[in-house]
Amino acid sequence: MDVYDCMKKVCSTRSYLSKDVTNRNVAKILNAAHFAPSSGNIQNWRFIVVRDKDKKKEIARVCMDQLWIQEAPVVIIVCSDNSNIKLHYEKNWKKYSRENCAAAIQNLIVEAENIGLSSCWVRNFNELRIANTLKIPDSVSVEAVITIGYSKHRPIEKKHKIEELVFFENYGNRTRGISLFPLQKHLKKLIK
Ligand SMILES: Cc1cc2nc3c(=O)[nH]c(=O)nc-3n(C[C@H](O)[C@H](O)[C@H](O)COP(=O)(O)O)c2cc1C
Repeated sequence: MDVYDCMKKVCSTRSYLSKDVTNRNVAKILNAAHFAPSSGNIQNWRFIVVRDKDKKKEIARVCMDQLWIQEAPVVIIVCSDNSNIKLHYEKNWKKYSRENCAAAIQNLIVEAENIGLSSCWVRNFNELRIANTLKIPDSVSVEAVITIGYSKHRPIEKKHKIEELVFFENYGNRTRGISLFPLQKHLKKLIK
């Protein structure tokens, strides 16, 4: 699928069919995740693939009782191994480690969509309890829980208009003199 079409289709999916996800497909989306950029090319991301029903139930519980999570056939826990990044970036390691993982997560989500799967990025969890459930060591932080599966229902969330989000030269400047404005007009020509 065209990357643009794929990104447009992505939506946070919170209900899944019982249809399983093959290991081949899991491998594809993890492979896409690990092509992401990272500060100093440290690649601090780590992934735990969870299929076990009891573990998924416990994860759903520690994600503040978001019980729909256990419906997903696969749950991927994105972690950051912080040992190396702490040595490289004494001050900013936390910020960079999180940003690196976010880049990997977005790749993962887009590739999942590309191969017909749906996903949801979940951040509302008790990190300590996830770490205990999955035997994650202290030097590793939990960055996200990602559900993966075939969607039962795909919600469509409203997005802000692009014109409201873009400024020219200075923050807040929407001057029309620039030929790229209004963006919506140009987008109409680009979008099939
Ligand atoms: C950092 C982050 C944390 C999120 N945490 C949760 C979460 O805990 N539970 C949930 O249902 N959705 C979560 N989401 C999904 C957002 O609710 C969703 O992206 C937003 O409503 C826009 O919908 P869309 O992704 O379908 O466009 C999270 C998304 C991000 C990027």
